[in-house]
Amino acid sequence: MNILITGSNGMVGQNFYKNLDKNKFQVYLTSRSKCNINLNNYFFQSDFENNNTFKNLKNFVNPDIIIHCAAMTNVDLCETDKSRAFKINVESTKSLLDTYYDKKIIYISSDAVFGSKDNNDLIDTPNPDNYYGLTKLKSEKIILQNSNNVVVRTTPIGFNYLNNSGFLNWALSSLILKKSIKLFDDVYFNPIHTSLLLKYILLVIQINLKGVIHINSNFKYTKYKFVKLLASFLKIDSSHVLNSKLSKANLVAKRNKNQILKLEKSENLLRIKYPDVNENFLIILNELKNNNKLKNFLIKN
Ligand SMILES: NC(=O)c1ccc[n+]([C@@H]2O[C@H](COP(=O)([O-])OP(=O)(O)OC[C@H]3O[C@@H](n4cnc5c(N)ncnc54)[C@H](OP(=O)(O)O)[C@@H]3O)[C@@H](O)[C@H]2O)c1
Repeated sequence: MNILITGSNGMVGQNFYKNLDKNKFQVYLTSRSKCNINLNNYFFQSDFENNNTFKNLKNFVNPDIIIHCAAMTNVDLCETDKSRAFKINVESTKSLLDTYYDKKIIYISSDAVFGSKDNNDLIDTPNPDNYYGLTKLKSEKIILQNSNNVVVRTTPIGFNYLNNSGFLNWALSSLILKKSIKLFDDVYFNPIHTSLLLKYILLVIQINLKGVIHINSNFKYTKYKFVKLLASFLKIDSSHVLNSKLSKANLVAKRNKNQILKLEKSENLLRIKYPDVNENFLIILNELKNNNKLKNFLIKN
């Protein structure tokens, strides 16, 4: 089976590539910047802000499945540059759909499609709080124009190995360096490690599920509590990890205090139980143990 991953240099895309079984799948990648893995024949550099890129991408690869991860993900930037956010997140999703209309697209959406109210179940009507969430919701609707496609609402976490950015890199490098950091103790989430997320996406493909699915973990912690628990699991001192409040922060885009995705209906659809917090922590521990370069990368960059 041929799989194309868009946004392959991003945190999620690079981890999906890393974890896909190359004996089972021929994996093609596309991203805006150069490929950081030695994969010349299977990588196509494409800027989705350029409309011509989709025709060239189609000439390059005609996959069975597309996992669409590319997006403008900086929530505050999306708020201040709405036209660019619309072009990258919404228009390019439409172009991708038109380019590969007869193929199955798995769209990586977000908890951000839901607003602050406690109505974040599969059957609830999304109502985002900020422009990023609105672009993700508009893209979901575009993707579902083909009833064969899948929208995966999720909150992925994982290490970014290509540049030292993102939640987990920031949290771990601060823990290792004993740098004082503040995390919101009034924002709840239930993220899932990218390798577990991929496992469930492969199940979605295997059973040919269609429509919307929530894929996250079975816990509800604030971001502060999550990092404190992770530190304790990894046996790292976290006395320098302090709590703060979203309600007192002055951010450009509005954030949602309740970023939990309700999971029960999706678990029933897949006939599985999503992972608990320790399953996620164990993967992080093993990554830190088994990858000698990772620790240095986290503290040097
Ligand atoms: N990480 C999270 O917390 C989170 C939470 C919920 C949902 N999601 C969703 O998960 C998906 C992946 O997120 P991520 O964390 O991997 O984001 P990321 O690290 O910011 O990566 C985004 C990717 O999109 C690519 N991209 C951006 N603009 C592009 C353009 N004009 N043309 C082509 N490619 C472009 C980037 O390419 P280059 O790097 O090559 O420039 C990058 O590979 C996104 O759809 C996001 O909305 C993420």
